[in-house]
Amino acid sequence: GATLKSLAESKGIYIGAAADNGEIADPTFARIIGQEFHSTTPGNSMKWDAIEPSPGVFNYKGGDEILNFAVSKGMTVRGHTLVWHSQLPSWVSEGTWTKETLTAAIENHVTNVVTHYKGKLLHWDVVNEIFNEDGTLRDSVFSRTFGNADFVPIAFRAARAADPDVKLYINDYNVEFIGPKSDAMYTYVKQWLAEGVPIDGIGAQAHLVVGLLGDTFHENLARFTSLGVETALTELDIRGNTPLSAADSQQQKDDYEYSMRACVETDGCVGVTIWGFTDRYSWVPTTFPGEGDALPWDKNFQRKPAHDGIVLAL
Ligand code: XIL
Repeated sequence: GATLKSLAESKGIYIGAAADNGEIADPTFARIIGQEFHSTTPGNSMKWDAIEPSPGVFNYKGGDEILNFAVSKGMTVRGHTLVWHSQLPSWVSEGTWTKETLTAAIENHVTNVVTHYKGKLLHWDVVNEIFNEDGTLRDSVFSRTFGNADFVPIAFRAARAADPDVKLYINDYNVEFIGPKSDAMYTYVKQWLAEGVPIDGIGAQAHLVVGLLGDTFHENLARFTSLGVETALTELDIRGNTPLSAADSQQQKDDYEYSMRACVETDGCVGVTIWGFTDRYSWVPTTFPGEGDALPWDKNFQRKPAHDGIVLAL
């Protein structure tokens, strides 16, 4: 059959899959991701703890390895992620900061990393997961130190100064459907754009649960793009209780089809990245015990009904 990437192209979107360094060493993983996907996102190797483990000490080994792999397969790379409360080195998360010193640390981190990859990536998830479910600002070393969300414009401006061409995204989960959290994303981005903050896109991670999707996916993506930014699904997976029942497998197929359609049918939704592609390698079972089977290929690299759901949307 046709590859996912050829089908996605026919609909004018890209399709990507996240990858970690250990995974690209698996020949079957490496072959399928290269055949089926346009793009990859490093699952861990471009995060702050990996890239700047001590102040001013940068380690690009893991990130470069994924980038070089992608280039060898003719794939593009989505950088992930510059400012996030999680997977921070302890010198950041447990440091003693003032607004001034934390601004300098953010600017130094963003400038170094974006400059290192300048001209080589298509997108950067500049800022990740800053909102709570009720739409308030998440507690983090950043929000605590600033007392507000002013670290966000600082990060975006530093990223734009370092690479004028890469698309700069703000990214979050549970912002796929209309609700307090996606309202906050919409309202903050609208305000930042009015202030000239260089935001190019809103990423909806789309870590979803079988049978529990809302019905406002299209409407919500369309309101994001109405702000004049692009949107993308950046980390799609749809988990269930393992092992999935036959009914849940069919529901998962429908849920993948619906999620893909939401992007395909929204002008300005440029693509979808799945968080991995095979259940052999997925973050879900460790993070959500008892849940999993969230991806379109099974543990033995066989296509699942979820894969056919994606095909139906393309
Ligand atoms: C996950 C990785 O896949 C795991 O390997 C790691 O242990 C934890 O982080 N939202 C994000 C991603 O933005 O960076 C997370 O990735 C999944 C949730």
